[in-house]
Amino acid sequence: MAASYDRRASRWDRVLGLDAGRRWVCERAHGDVLELGVGTGLSLPHYPPEVRLTCIDATSEMLAVAQQRATELGVIADFRVGDAQALDVDSASVDTVIFTLSLCTIPMPARAIGEAWRVLRPDGRLLLIEHVRSPNAVIRTGQRLLDPLFRRLEADNLFREPLEHVRRLGFRVEELERSACGIVERLRATKP
Ligand SMILES: C[S@@+](CC[C@H](N)C(=O)[O-])C[C@H]1O[C@@H](n2cnc3c(N)ncnc32)[C@H](O)[C@@H]1O
Repeated sequence: MAASYDRRASRWDRVLGLDAGRRWVCERAHGDVLELGVGTGLSLPHYPPEVRLTCIDATSEMLAVAQQRATELGVIADFRVGDAQALDVDSASVDTVIFTLSLCTIPMPARAIGEAWRVLRPDGRLLLIEHVRSPNAVIRTGQRLLDPLFRRLEADNLFREPLEHVRRLGFRVEELERSACGIVERLRATKP
């Protein structure tokens, strides 16, 4: 999907305000930052210049686009192919873990958030934006109908609830915002 991702993403960005969400997430990053499921790097323009950034994705095709974008933007980052569910990263070694709209695609989001917990230092920060189940019953019914299609065509799950895993692991939720009829969730949480 690497070649067509940006074009398809920009449609949803306009409808759901996703790029503003990426900015919200990335501007809260600090220190050693690990972005999981970076895709084509649509988050890259939004990072503060002083962060030390490592970006991981499952596919080299997406990473190649992200690397090209980083070069054009003058963003320095380490790009690695990897699995967010089983990271080749030392425990307690990063200050910030970021997911921007990747937990809807990563097959086992609970495991990926568990890995975020493992690699974060105490007081480390988890930041994410994701589309989730709407609290509005009519919209939720629409999401339920569309979910099989999205999963099949885009590997995109419309019924993920990352907050449940974040709370279960013991993260302290510091900021939580919903927008776009409750479909889009932004979260800042701290590992105690
Ligand atoms: C919907 S895209 C989101 C891309 C980008 N973060 C954004 O904001 O547009 C999901 C990304 O997660 C990646 N991904 C899926 N499963 C993964 C895994 N297990 N580990 C790392 N990345 C994964 C996909 O390759 C894809 O690039």
